[in-house]
Amino acid sequence: MNREVSPSIKRGVVLALVATSVILVLMMTFGVIMLLSQGNLYKISPQWFYKLMTMHGTGMIGIAALGGSAIMWYFLSRHIELNAKIFFINLALSFIGVAMILTAIFGYQFSDGWTFLYPLPSFSSKLNGTTGALLYLFGLLILGSGYLIMYAYLATRLIKEYGGLGKSLGWDYIFRGKKGYGPLQQQ
Ligand code: HEM
Repeated sequence: MNREVSPSIKRGVVLALVATSVILVLMMTFGVIMLLSQGNLYKISPQWFYKLMTMHGTGMIGIAALGGSAIMWYFLSRHIELNAKIFFINLALSFIGVAMILTAIFGYQFSDGWTFLYPLPSFSSKLNGTTGALLYLFGLLILGSGYLIMYAYLATRLIKEYGGLGKSLGWDYIFRGKKGYGPLQQQ
């Protein structure tokens, strides 16, 4: 069943995709600056290299999640009724998380990139203090909480609508020989 997508969701999806496009170009620019520095064509200090690398790595993964989930929400909301508030809660938590991560990197010199993953930080030399690390980690935690809320909500809605997670994922077509084609129809 094709539903009309609400205007507020359309606006939210456009906002998420505009943010995704702008951040993608910015992160690509950071990537190119790093390559130029590695090739000795445009030299930046090691401190700036790792700050840009931290921003680039986190930003690229972050926008893949933001853009992907906005597109997914748009198409899913054409098939089942979704509460727009959850979409905006995730968007708001994403922006709060990003603001904290930006402050950590550019305000408190956090530049550890993906080495923040356990167990590497167990022996931190605390080179740039702990404030930046805390802001970065809590920023990621807030971002992650937004996605957890959104995906838990979507899983609940899908299970309720189609009678199970397996059916929502179309596994009965693959494993149980159910016939048909195209997006799931509401039962
Ligand atoms: C124009 C495109 C891109 C360029 C020029 C670029 C360039 C770079 C460079 C120079 C590094 C530094 C690390 C190294 O030399 O080993 C890096 C790291 C990284 N890039 Fe990219 N990249 C691009 C696109 C992407 C995309 C599309 C993603 C993910 C969706 C991505 C994710 C990462 C990650 C996760 C790291 C590691 C960060 C870390 O260790 O903290 N990059 N990139």
